[in-house]
Amino acid sequence: MTLELVKAYYGQTLSGSADLRTDACSTLEPPPAAIADALGRIHEEVARHYYGCGLIAPPALSGLRILDLGCGAGRDCYLLSQLAGPEGEVVGIDATPAQLAIARRHQAWHAERFGHSRSNVSFIEGDVGRLDQIGLPPASFDLIVSNCVFNLLADKAAVFAEAHRLLKPGGELYFADVYADRRLPPRLMEDPVLLGECLAGALYWNDFLSLVRGAGFADPRLVSDRPIAVRDPVLKSQLGEARFFSATYRLFRLEGLEPACEDYGQAVRYRGGIAGAEEVFVLDAHHRMDRGRIFPVCGNSFRMIAETRFAPFFDLHGDMSTHFGIFPGCGTALPFGTFEAGPERPASGCC
Ligand SMILES: C[S@@+](CC[C@H](N)C(=O)[O-])C[C@H]1O[C@@H](n2cnc3c(N)ncnc32)[C@H](O)[C@@H]1O
Repeated sequence: MTLELVKAYYGQTLSGSADLRTDACSTLEPPPAAIADALGRIHEEVARHYYGCGLIAPPALSGLRILDLGCGAGRDCYLLSQLAGPEGEVVGIDATPAQLAIARRHQAWHAERFGHSRSNVSFIEGDVGRLDQIGLPPASFDLIVSNCVFNLLADKAAVFAEAHRLLKPGGELYFADVYADRRLPPRLMEDPVLLGECLAGALYWNDFLSLVRGAGFADPRLVSDRPIAVRDPVLKSQLGEARFFSATYRLFRLEGLEPACEDYGQAVRYRGGIAGAEEVFVLDAHHRMDRGRIFPVCGNSFRMIAETRFAPFFDLHGDMSTHFGIFPGCGTALPFGTFEAGPERPASGCC
């Protein structure tokens, strides 16, 4: 039922991003210059059918095998195709044939535009809720991305668990989605507009944290968030007092991450060398690491660098042989928007 409503909304109701009735499925913040250039090389028809709510292009993508869950008309696939380069590969999955038809129509055009001898992008028509039936081998992706899709899924927990299974050890799920500041009545999922506009299925942020931890992602990291404005009076009255946020999270597949930030006296030093992050490496909203500066980190943050594709760009100091207690300044998870009233950042579950 949910999937049929979604396919009708993205396949028939909407004919482009200008038809959206809220800014939930929109990306408002301007991208960094290199990303803006890459976006400028994407075909106009693909760009016009973009319905994402955030930027899902983490650093250091060269040569990676990437999966985009709910790729729509393929805008992010073609962005990532450029960033992964000819040695990399991008696979997009979506259930709406009309969206995939646009994505596929411009496949050769993009390969030529990007200077690739053959396209490094492929598209699969399929249900993200049934990833296990698509035949993708376990531990076969370095990076899984998704842009404004989890809120549309009926069984979100199952898809987080599948994403964990499909990631290589040290790989990450990096995705933008819509969250609510409270649990929403399930009946809202039956409204095609509230669902299609990515509001009805928005997870309450604290349920999201429990859910991803249950799927094996022990330390979810918030990268960015912004409030969503619902101005349409009809939609507003249906939603009551609930507030909505678009947020980008990164979830690493690292076995044995600890439930809290523990201090082992470790530090990292970013040496530079990542395109687009020449001066500062951003791990998450709490961790902006200047090139050349010794940066003390908790055990989990250390592993997110030492055991991932970021390791070659860092000097690593210390190990986990001596424990010094809880990492100083480690706070409990707070709801989105809390930081507006104070210095603490919300809901990363980390220091
Ligand atoms: C808000 S749009 C975002 C599309 C794309 N990520 C973008 O940024 O333009 C949501 C997309 O998720 C797809 N979708 C929703 N539920 C799905 C499911 N169960 N399986 C596959 N695709 C799904 C829809 O077809 C739609 O293209």
